[in-house]
Amino acid sequence: MTERKKRVLIADDQPDVLEALRLLLKGESFETETAASPAGVLQAIESGDFDAVLMDLNYTRDTTSGREGFELLSKIQELDSTLPVIVMTAWGSIPGAVEAMRRGARDYVEKPWDNQRLLSLLRTHVELGRALRESARLASENRLLRRQGVPELIAESRAMQPVLTMLERIGPSEANVLIMGEHGTGKEIIARWLHAASPRAEKPLIIVNAGGLSEGVFESELFGHVKGAFTDAKTDRVGYFELADGGTLFLDEIGNMPPKQQSKLLRVLQTGEFQRVGSSKTKRVDVRVISATNVDIRQEVAEGRFREDLLYRLNTVEIHLPPLRDRPEDIAALAMHFLKRETGKYRKAKVTGLEREALQALLEHPWPGNIRELEHTIERAVLMATGSQIRAEDLGLRGRGDGAARIEEMTLEEAEKYLIQKALGRYQGNVSRAADALGLSRSALYRRLQYYDLGTSAEP
Ligand SMILES: Nc1ncnc2c1ncn2[C@@H]1O[C@H](COP(=O)(O)OP(=O)(O)OP(=O)(O)O)[C@@H](O)[C@H]1O
Ligand SMILES: [Mg+2]
Repeated sequence: MTERKKRVLIADDQPDVLEALRLLLKGESFETETAASPAGVLQAIESGDFDAVLMDLNYTRDTTSGREGFELLSKIQELDSTLPVIVMTAWGSIPGAVEAMRRGARDYVEKPWDNQRLLSLLRTHVELGRALRESARLASENRLLRRQGVPELIAESRAMQPVLTMLERIGPSEANVLIMGEHGTGKEIIARWLHAASPRAEKPLIIVNAGGLSEGVFESELFGHVKGAFTDAKTDRVGYFELADGGTLFLDEIGNMPPKQQSKLLRVLQTGEFQRVGSSKTKRVDVRVISATNVDIRQEVAEGRFREDLLYRLNTVEIHLPPLRDRPEDIAALAMHFLKRETGKYRKAKVTGLEREALQALLEHPWPGNIRELEHTIERAVLMATGSQIRAEDLGLRGRGDGAARIEEMTLEEAEKYLIQKALGRYQGNVSRAADALGLSRSALYRRLQYYDLGTSAEP
């Protein structure tokens, strides 16, 4: 997808103002069109596709009251309520600006304007406007949404295009899919999407934290057991493979599976057969396997920690999810998506958007925890917000420093979480190695990952 130039409609009855603005915007690679009257503005909006309107409030008929401008604003709202409009007001005429905002203007600049402020305002509103329009479009026509239960994916950025192409191609198929990406990049939501878009959608999707099962329970969890198979086996148990029969089995954190378990999994994938623990009866199931990992699996293979033959069973198709820092174009839309969800959840419908500075802060943050971190940030901000717009300080984003200087200011829990994140980062998300480094057992680390919501799903 090639990025379309941002188009701005400039409206003023003074030719020298139009010309100055046109040159300013052109220098910043906006495309512009100009209009000198309210009628011209409406005509342009009806026939063209704009990302924003920058308009004066006063036109020749009546040059000071702003009435023509207010009427025009209302008409623009009727034509297209998602189009961001920024009004230009006379220096010091705050009441005019307030009235304009009440009538749907998103922001205002005072004349004479400050070039940098004007440009940054325009960029922000173009971006927010695109996000708004995009979510409106998704809600009404996106076929990814049309089917019940298919999760909504926000993926407009260039970095996500190969992923979307791949999803469309393989969605309806039976291929085993391996999803790779850092913590919080959306591996699970993609797995859910794939299941929901497949012919197996009516059948179960079973999610297993394959990397978090201890040696003792692995087989009985995956394949089930019969009563009396071992001391604790008081009744028969159906394993995940059987539960997923006809549907999809999502094996999460596959890169963290110990070698013995890898062999057991490989055997089922090769033969399609298994036995419940303690039973000699062979079972067959029809299961599509989707797996995910945040470790560099090829590296694991190269270093002998992951079986290559198992990798080839799992990766018929590979999906690589980019980290959020590589898809900044999605940040505004994701933020709005979470904002809507969280305001619904917390009954804070009056929070409807983000202030410019807040969006800017989101765009500048490096997002080591990716989309999940953004989700938590917005959730917290919705809770903190007191007005209709989330402010930068509501986001509670810390600066770029990596925290080392502040450890003495943390609570014990914050420090523990911080050290765990550090260790995971150091070992590319490999839980076994991070656990070693932290002096914990794997299962103890898993419990903490869940406790701190550091991105392991559904450990059984
Ligand atoms: N493209 C997207 N559009 C909307 N929401 C998304 C998108 N990608 C991820 N999310 C949301 O972000 C959160 C984190 O995603 P998910 O749990 O799928 O990540 P993950 O890669 O499985 O993380 P981890 O490695 O930590 O388990 C979820 O709430 C998910 O719904
Ligand atoms: Mg996950």
